[in-house]
Amino acid sequence: MNRDYREVHLSAENAGVYNRTYSSPSYQNLLWQLERGVLIRSLEELKHGGARVVYLDFACGTGRVTAFCEKQVSESYGLDISPAMLEHARKNTERTALMQGDLTRDGALLSGPFDLITAFRFVLNAQEELRVAALRALAKRLRNGRGILVFNVHANHYSYAFFGRLWRRLRNGAEFARQEHSMTIDAALSLARRCGLRVERMTGVGFLSARFVERLPFKWCLAVERALSRIPWLSPFGVDVLFECRRA
Ligand SMILES: C[S@@+](CC[C@H](N)C(=O)[O-])C[C@H]1O[C@@H](n2cnc3c(N)ncnc32)[C@H](O)[C@@H]1O
Repeated sequence: MNRDYREVHLSAENAGVYNRTYSSPSYQNLLWQLERGVLIRSLEELKHGGARVVYLDFACGTGRVTAFCEKQVSESYGLDISPAMLEHARKNTERTALMQGDLTRDGALLSGPFDLITAFRFVLNAQEELRVAALRALAKRLRNGRGILVFNVHANHYSYAFFGRLWRRLRNGAEFARQEHSMTIDAALSLARRCGLRVERMTGVGFLSARFVERLPFKWCLAVERALSRIPWLSPFGVDVLFECRRA
């Protein structure tokens, strides 16, 4: 990968496409419903006994995750590098302080500490230098002992999608390798460790292929996915894996 992920969502066109992905019943939406279950669990843990929760959505983009969490926390902040993505976030959120900037280059930005930090659909897409710098900056801003950081890897290497990738690689060879990417659980765990994070829980979602979901009733697929996501030994094979971490 030789492009800087900081620049990928800067255009208004890309921001509009991303915003629309989550406004229709799609496979992405199905995964999002399952991801929300994990966020609810973390939020309940943090709010136990009426505790205040200060929240940061890092790389908040169009505010998909922010809009869901802001309703359940005491203070909510959203940060993204792209003014175009933030423009959508402004419309999608109600009580979040949205900011534009890059934590990896401006250490004075949003010093925290935060009780909950989310970083969704970022780690896999970002190049190694950026993902390490970002997770290290976020780990420093987590409230020690209590704070939870949730990040996801939305194309787990060893999931049902492995077979599709293998087939396309055999057909298209090197050309394909440049276009698609995935990450193993081991790589994600090692990344978290190197960034000063301890992974406390890992939840995999997305066991049915997108093609399958497109052809069957959405509600039926959601029920099956919910049941599968409760089976602990299946977690490492979900296409989308969520990592709940605390400061090491
Ligand atoms: C795929 S979007 C994910 C948006 C949102 N988290 C979600 O899951 O819907 C990735 C976002 O990362 C942002 N981004 C990339 N580099 C960044 C950086 N260094 N600091 C903050 N945001 C960054 C992009 O602008 C983009 O909005």
